[in-house]
Parts: sequence; C-alpha cells; structure tokens
Amino acid sequence: MKDNLEKLLRNALSELSEVGSEEGLHEVRVKYLGKKGLLTQVMKGLGALPAEERPLVGQQANTVKERIEAQLDTVLQDLKKSRTEERLKSERIDVSLPGRRRPMGTRHPITLVIDDIVDIFAGLGFQVEEGPEIEMDYYNFEALNIPKDHPARDMQDTFFISDSVVLRTHTSPVQIRTMLRQPPPVRIIAPGTVYRCDSDATHSPMFHQIEGLLVDTGITFGDLKGILTNFVNQYFGSGTGVRLRPSFFPFTEPSAEVDIACVMCKGKGCRICKNTGWLEVLGAGMVDPEVFRHVSYDAEKVSGFAFGMGIERIAMLRYGISDMRLLFENDVRFLSQF
Ligand code: PHE
Repeated sequence: MKDNLEKLLRNALSELSEVGSEEGLHEVRVKYLGKKGLLTQVMKGLGALPAEERPLVGQQANTVKERIEAQLDTVLQDLKKSRTEERLKSERIDVSLPGRRRPMGTRHPITLVIDDIVDIFAGLGFQVEEGPEIEMDYYNFEALNIPKDHPARDMQDTFFISDSVVLRTHTSPVQIRTMLRQPPPVRIIAPGTVYRCDSDATHSPMFHQIEGLLVDTGITFGDLKGILTNFVNQYFGSGTGVRLRPSFFPFTEPSAEVDIACVMCKGKGCRICKNTGWLEVLGAGMVDPEVFRHVSYDAEKVSGFAFGMGIERIAMLRYGISDMRLLFENDVRFLSQF
C-alpha cells in the first residue's frame, strides 16, 4: 500500500510537470483528486485495511494529497504568469510607429473674417451686437428712413414673410434695435447673416455683413474717415489707400462709398479691380436725423456715423478666392486650406 501511494505521487508529479494549459491541469486534478480519482479510491479503501495499518496509511495518503494539491497550485500560478508575460510581449506598444493624426477642423473663411474684423473694432472700443434674421419691416426699412413706396426699397430684393415681416436685407436694423434700447453714446459692431432675392456668380441669396454704428456728442465725418482708415490699415496692411466717393443711402446723410487700393495690384490696375486700381468695400455715412427721430435721439445734441460691409467680398479679396460660390459649397478640400 505504501509503495502504491508513493508511485501514485510520483506519477502525479511527473504528469503535472508536463502540463501546458489550464485544461490539462484540470484533467490531472480530476484524475487524482476527483470523486472517482485514483487517490480518492485509495482513501475509500482505507476502511478495508487492518486496524493497526489504518492510521499510518491514512496519514501517508493525506500527505500525498497535500503534495499533489500544492503542486497543482504551483503549476497554476506558473501558467498564469507565463500567460501574462506572453500577452505583454505580443501586445507591446511600438512607440516608434508614426502616430495616427486626427483630422482637425478649421474655421470657415467667413468666420475668420468676422472674427478678425470684430477684434479690430473691439480694440477701438466697439461692442458686439446681434439682431434677428427674421425682422420687422419697420426695423429693416421704415425706421431707417425707407418708407413704403420709397424707390430705395427696389435696391434690395426683399424676401417677404408677410406684409410686415421680412428676412433682413442688411444688418442696419441692428442700429435701430440698439438705439431704441439704450441712450447715447453708442459704439457697436454687428456681424450677421442677411438675405436678398438675388443669385449668380457674384451674388448669393444668403450672405453676411458687418454693421458699425457710433453715436456721441460732436462726432464728425472726419471721425468716420479716421476710424475706417485705421481699420483698413489694420486689416489690409498699413499704407493701404482709402478713398471716399459721394453716394446715397436713405439712412445716412451725407453718404459715401468707401474704396481701398486694389489688394492684388496695389493700385496699378488689374483684372480684379477692372483696371481702376480701386475696390469698393463698404458703404458709410453720417446718421440721418430722420433715423434719430425714429429712436428718439436728439439730433441737436448728438451725431454719429454708420457703415456696413459685405463679408464675402472681403473674404474673397483677403484670401484670393475667385468664385463666391466656393464659400457656400462646403467642399472640405477648399475649407481645409484656411
Ligand atoms: N446697409 C447698407 C447696405 O446694405 C450699407 C450701409 C450701412 C450704408 C450703414 C451706410 C451705413 O447696402
């Protein structure tokens, strides 16, 4: 019996030394220690032994069982360890591999222009204002001294929503909303989307403007020219020529159209400026007293100037974009260049 147990232990240990997986380990455990296992059989047979042999053999059987269990445990730990090592080896990160870039979004050129222009005017003390794109006829026209039947309404091909509600045709109604809300002085810049029923290579039914308004005591046309010249020099480069030509807007008097020296040819004359050397970039003028009357400002006490410019045109000049439609097609190959 004693020899039997020793042989059983030797066999078990040698089988364990060859086990290569957790399944194999399980098989060995069942073979020796399972309900019908070899060692279990021996222990069940103890009762049949003569009484004097029983304690000794029993003790020996227990020792064998403990040794097998201990070895099972050791092999299990080894298996786990080598599995972890293998995983670490196979899953190692190669830090020398080139990284995978995440595609980065860029700001739309229209947004870039608006942000840059707003920054310049913020530096001159202007505050940003906004107004609704669906606007009352009253703010878009009436209060800006464009009464019904006024021929100036034809200058702006309006989308009407109802008799009294329109898609705003310019950012000028923000002037009215601001002055109705606060007393002078006023110093605002108002970027936004505007709409006109017009569509070809150089016109889009939806486009963008930036409006400026400054009202205070003693403001003159000289202040208007000074601020605009300062802006043009900051935005298009110092020394860029500025020219004011007489013009007409119902809400400013006197009014001017503002040209800058062509940014492409520096004034020499080219295709972009149609050989004139000048580019028209904005409309401006001194606020008409009739506008002040609509917002209950005292035209005897305060004066001011306003200006408005089209963002798309500025973006095209600034970035050398030849077709305005590129700005609205959202082709990533185009947009990612900014
Ligand atoms: N609102 C005018 C336009 O859309 C531009 C402008 C604004 C002119 C302010 C003068 C003063 O054409």
